[in-house]
Amino acid sequence: MRRVMSRVSVMAVVAVSILGAGNFNAQAEKDRKALEVYMLKKFENPLKNRNAYFPYATDDELKNNIQPVKKVEDFRLGSYAFNKGGLEQYNELNEMPPYEDAIDEGEELYNKKFKNGKSLKSCFPNPEIAGDYPKFDDKKGEVVTITSAINDCLVANGEKPWNMKKGKIAKVEAYFASKSKEAGKKVNIQINSKAAAEAYERGKKEYYTQRGYLQLSCANCHVQGAGQRVRKEYLSPLIGHTTHFPVYRLKWQGLGTLERRLGGCEKNQGEKPHKPNSKWDKELLYFMAYMSNGLPVDGPDIRK
Ligand code: HEC
Repeated sequence: MRRVMSRVSVMAVVAVSILGAGNFNAQAEKDRKALEVYMLKKFENPLKNRNAYFPYATDDELKNNIQPVKKVEDFRLGSYAFNKGGLEQYNELNEMPPYEDAIDEGEELYNKKFKNGKSLKSCFPNPEIAGDYPKFDDKKGEVVTITSAINDCLVANGEKPWNMKKGKIAKVEAYFASKSKEAGKKVNIQINSKAAAEAYERGKKEYYTQRGYLQLSCANCHVQGAGQRVRKEYLSPLIGHTTHFPVYRLKWQGLGTLERRLGGCEKNQGEKPHKPNSKWDKELLYFMAYMSNGLPVDGPDIRK
């Protein structure tokens, strides 16, 4: 009897720890699903949902420009998922994508030998990893973004770190994204420990915190505000925000990382941007990327 009991209790302990291990993302999964339901409901029929979600849109906009979005994957297109005029411009630009050369240059940089004979390839033997970052590194106790991981690799091999917003890093990320997209990879963010769940929660809190002299949060514009127009620009939803980077922006006349984009939006909020390598940026990106879990990797891409 005692032997049976002890076996049962060993089983119970094993079961609890397996359950526990799978449970660190429970809150994040709840948040992600709630956001998905909200966005799909908002965009399933903008004209019909006018009172609930589009009180400021004109009749003309609702009839002719703001289109229904049926599938959550479509949000990888940002505001072009629902903004018909924007989508037409986007499709035109995509006929001759301005980021093709950057992908090839990124591949060269990936294979290029460091002074010590190693390369980025030695750190990232599989380039199809765009959907796996940010990750929580339990040994370091911090979030690692694809951008910071590339620089960590450089520094560990005695090289100087690169600019985290544009240039070589964006090119290598363009290569990673295009390989991941070709392979049909999806965003696959993991939260596997208590510390990781805490980092996620801190990122979420910052996303919903109002700041700057305008007292706006990211969520004011990209959750509640998604689908509204700010002057001529339609606000894109948080879901799909991390799927397609790096992007070539007409405004930049070049390629930029997610970190670069964040800086611009913090300025929109009336704030001095945080540093791309800051804990703040990394944890915010961890939260944001989790919200796109399951969506296809779709980079590099084009934005205005
Ligand atoms: C005042 C409104 C406003 C606030 C607040 C704001 N943004 Fe934005 N954001 C914009 C506009 C306008 C654009 C360009 C149109 C679009 O894609 O939404 C944009 C674009 C973006 C994009 C690119 C979307 C794409 O499809 O590539 C990301 C990512 C983003 N914002 C993140 C953030 C984050 C993170 C915060 C908080 C730190 C934030 N934004 C705060 C207005 C805002």
